[in-house]
Amino acid sequence: MSHLINRRGVLKGTLAGAVAYLSGCTSTPLTQGASKLVGFTPVPREAADGKSISIAPEYQYQTLAPWGTPLTADAPAWQWPPSAAAQAQQVGIGHDGMTYFPLSADDRRGLLAMNHEYGSNPHILGTRWAEDQEQLLASQHAIGNSIMEIQETGGRWSLVPDSRYARRIHVNTPMVFAGPVAGHALIANKANNPVLGTMNNCANGQTPWGTYLTCEENFNFLFGATREIEPTAAQARYGLPPSRNFYNWHDLDPRFDMANPDYANESNRFGWVVEIDPRDPDTPPVKRSALGRFKHEGATVGEDSAGRAVVYMGDDQQFEFVYRFVSREPWREMRKRGLSPLDEGTLYVAQFEAEGKGLWLPLTLDNPRLAGTFTETADILVHARLAATLAGATPMDRPEWVSIGPAGDVYCTLTNNSRRSAPNPANPSAPNPHGQIVRWRDEEDERFSWDHFLICADVYETENSLGSPDGLLADPDGRLFICTDGAQFEDQPNQLMVADTVTGQLSRLLVGVQGCEITGLTMTPDRRTLFVNVQHPGNGDPRVTSFPAPDDGTTIPRDCTLVVTRRDGGIVGS
Ligand code: FEO
Ligand code: CA
Ligand code: CA
Ligand code: CA
Repeated sequence: MSHLINRRGVLKGTLAGAVAYLSGCTSTPLTQGASKLVGFTPVPREAADGKSISIAPEYQYQTLAPWGTPLTADAPAWQWPPSAAAQAQQVGIGHDGMTYFPLSADDRRGLLAMNHEYGSNPHILGTRWAEDQEQLLASQHAIGNSIMEIQETGGRWSLVPDSRYARRIHVNTPMVFAGPVAGHALIANKANNPVLGTMNNCANGQTPWGTYLTCEENFNFLFGATREIEPTAAQARYGLPPSRNFYNWHDLDPRFDMANPDYANESNRFGWVVEIDPRDPDTPPVKRSALGRFKHEGATVGEDSAGRAVVYMGDDQQFEFVYRFVSREPWREMRKRGLSPLDEGTLYVAQFEAEGKGLWLPLTLDNPRLAGTFTETADILVHARLAATLAGATPMDRPEWVSIGPAGDVYCTLTNNSRRSAPNPANPSAPNPHGQIVRWRDEEDERFSWDHFLICADVYETENSLGSPDGLLADPDGRLFICTDGAQFEDQPNQLMVADTVTGQLSRLLVGVQGCEITGLTMTPDRRTLFVNVQHPGNGDPRVTSFPAPDDGTTIPRDCTLVVTRRDGGIVGS
């Protein structure tokens, strides 16, 4: 998976269509040529009924692991609203990023590590706010992660009922910090409380050494203040405290009350990438602080030509940045010496220049632009957004997922930005309601070349319309799976498109139900099975849809996973 490309000339031999893509910074002209990679019959643009899933005729799906599914045989059956005790033993809500880790050689049994990003109080609890400890804990237990063992028997996937791997991780699960911020005063509280919990787990990553990365995104919304406080400039940059109270945790749990001096640094404990070993339920999740603190969308791991781990990460907020971490040494050597490749290395932020050029700017103490302000690496990492601005990063249109293609081309969704008034080369639309997909390749000397793979406004009025791209998965053949989260043509539901990155052809594989996002996606290694998540169907309102239950107008809709296969057993996406 080497993606340290020497110079642009090297690209000519790698991917037929890539030369044109990288020749400038304007949008790729989508040729709409016949795709060799994508042969299915696309779902028509206006086919969805909003109540159920629409899928291409060559494909089929089943639902798996809806919110509230008992994780083990002795866990309570689903009932709405869930009790706190039940929810801690059931699949969480807000299905988002996930990774399939195979356990059997035939790919029919594996672990599904899943993020549970968030759920609104009305959806989880049936009330506007958490009103007592029981409701507080129910909402805290509903998010975080599930580790599920799943298997296919007789053509259907299900949870293995007595798996030794089954595990829930939530807001009150013990964690540890590693890397430069571990043990630092910036994450210490007077209360001397242990490090607990992960939340707002959005997109994900997987390491070449077999672990799962879960990414903490909009953590600020779960904090509040029981009296008016004057936030520091750093807190304000991270949206702390939020301008509105959505959850009311801070009234019931002092950890989330920013006005409580005993927990003054609790919010610095969130906004990290967390590593989980899905095969070892006894090891605590580890917050890998060298990867910086921001509203992490995902963490996509590759390897450069020197064998170092490279992690690409988006910070999903208007005018925030794209980051890259590179391990100090080849990851295999660090692992052999008992070191985590994610604890020692350099964090960079992207500066997209004109004419398809770019530069990775180091967020280090020896960067002269940071030297006057920062004296400790831990301070740079906790306040990565502030350091990145000083370094000269390019403000982007909400960076979401990143995926690495077979020729080392890196794709990143920039979902939209209603507030952009000043365009820049990478973010050319002002305002930007539909978003774009930018693509780059790393080169020597901390440089990269880039272009736009897709500017969604260019196709928004066409049959292949999509807007607000979010989830991404590049497969080894050159297909790019694109999930959407936002406004679609004439209020159609969110959808999953497949792009042929050689011809530029876009094809609609499936369309969700009203109110949902199509979020995380992962495949079995044989690529015959795609798992894709449906988040907040109907926004929790049963009058919109009862999905995945048959529509009855009263049953609460539940987040779930779709298991998508070709009817002929072929490669998914073909
Ligand atoms: Fe959780 Fe930016 O999506
Ligand atoms: Ca997302
Ligand atoms: Ca989104
Ligand atoms: Ca979202």
